[in-house]
Parts: sequence; structure tokens; C-alpha cells
Amino acid sequence: MIRIDNLKKLYHMGTVEVRALDGVTLDIAKGEFLGIMGASGSGKTTLLHMLGLLDEPSSGSILLDNTDVGKLTDYEKTMFRLYKLGYVFQDYALVPDLTVMENVSLPAMLRKDRDEEQIKADSYEILQKIGLCDRRDHLPRELSGGQQQRVSIARAMVNKPDILFADEPCANLDSENSRMVLELFREINEEFRQTIVMVSHEDWHKEYFHRIIRLKDGKVVSDGVNGNGEKAG
Ligand SMILES: Nc1ncnc2c1ncn2[C@@H]1O[C@H](COP(=O)(O)OP(=O)(O)O)[C@@H](O)[C@H]1O
Ligand SMILES: [Mg+2]
Repeated sequence: MIRIDNLKKLYHMGTVEVRALDGVTLDIAKGEFLGIMGASGSGKTTLLHMLGLLDEPSSGSILLDNTDVGKLTDYEKTMFRLYKLGYVFQDYALVPDLTVMENVSLPAMLRKDRDEEQIKADSYEILQKIGLCDRRDHLPRELSGGQQQRVSIARAMVNKPDILFADEPCANLDSENSRMVLELFREINEEFRQTIVMVSHEDWHKEYFHRIIRLKDGKVVSDGVNGNGEKAG
């Protein structure tokens, strides 16, 4: 499903070179709920941005569903993101002036392959899944942080992406709301066999992941069920 080969990302800060990713090689299977863990500055966000086609590596290759995404044009990348990828960010990134329903519908509208009735039905269905149908006409600011994050997960899921990416989605939530978000990811993963790649630096989150990759200084230092170097079975 995802195959990464010797991925590097260098940033040049004046005369200083930062190796944000320093040769990452990795396979991710369909249906896997993968956690990317590691200390702040270890390269987690950089790796997620490369995989999510939000930024370009300095070298190395990424195959998503057998497509060498490094060879795509900008337009093809945009279409690839819209049709195959979903994103959840730490700060929810909801549009403040749009209602919950409109926020969730947005990625579906951009695609233009469903009529309005179908989009409404699909958005309603996913709002039901996250348990926020009764809030569909509310604005994001009228919801709690945990509810806003669930709306952003619904928005990421409305197009039924092949891969769902989440960068520290619980960073601004208390442990109760974090658990709700993680349980929701688990349900989505099990019910739709949804591939999920999630960045976290909270150790207790690892109970939710099938497999954990630990990064340090832009390198994979362990890969396994407990981050102990064992492969998940
Ligand atoms: N746009 C950028 N310009 C320069 N350095 C960057 C940039 N983005 C990230 N870095 C550096 O790359 C390294 C990895 O960053 P990041 O991927 O954000 O780590 P993490 O998400 O694990 O905290 C850090 O040393 C960071 O300072
Ligand atoms: Mg980060």
C-alpha cells in the first residue's frame, strides 16, 4: 500500500544543514493503524507531510498504491490528495464561518463527482458515525475541542480516503477527549479497514496502534508492536 525507500529531507538554515529525515525505509500495509512516535524534532511531522504529499522529499521515493508519487505533476498530486488521502491536524483546521455540516461536506464538494443530495447523505452518515448529527448546524466555535476534532475526522473521512493521516490529533485535548478520538480512529480502522498513519508523542497512545515506528534524528530506531523492534503479527 505504502512503500518508502531511503527518504531524506534536508533543510538549509543559513550554513546549517538539518537532516529532518535521514534515510527512512518503510512499508505500510493496507488496513494498518500505524503510530509514528518519537521526541519533538525527531522528524515525525516531516515524514507525515512527505507521505501526505504536502511537501517534497530531498531524495528517495514514495509509492502509494503502486504510484510513484514523486513523478506526479502538481495537478496530479492535488487530485491524488483529493481522491485518495485524508488529513487530521492538531488544531482541527475547521473553517470558522461554515457549519459543522458544511465543513464535513467541503472535501466532497471539491471533488465534483457526487450531486448535492448524495454529498448531504454521505456527510450525514459520517456525522452519525461520530455522534454529532444534532450539532450539524452549529459553528465550530460552539463546540468543544474534542467535538471539533471529531468533526475534522468526519471531514477527512467523507471521501472515504485510502489513507488517513493524523498529526498529533490529541495534542490539544485532555485525556478523556483524547480517548474518544482514539476510539473513533479504532472504530474507523476496524469497520472500514481504514489505513491510518498517526503521529503521537504520548506514550499511552501506543495501546491503540497495531505497529509503532520510532524516529530519532530523522531515522527509524525501532519498528514493532511495542516499539521494541518486533514486527506486529
Ligand atoms: N521548514 C523547516 N525549516 C527548517 N527546519 C525545519 C523545518 N521543518 C522542520 N524542521 C526541522 O526538522 C526537524 C524535524 O522536525 P519535525 O518533523 O517537525 O519534528 P517532529 O514533528 O517530530 O517534532 C527539526 O529539527 C526541525 O527543527
Ligand atoms: Mg510534529
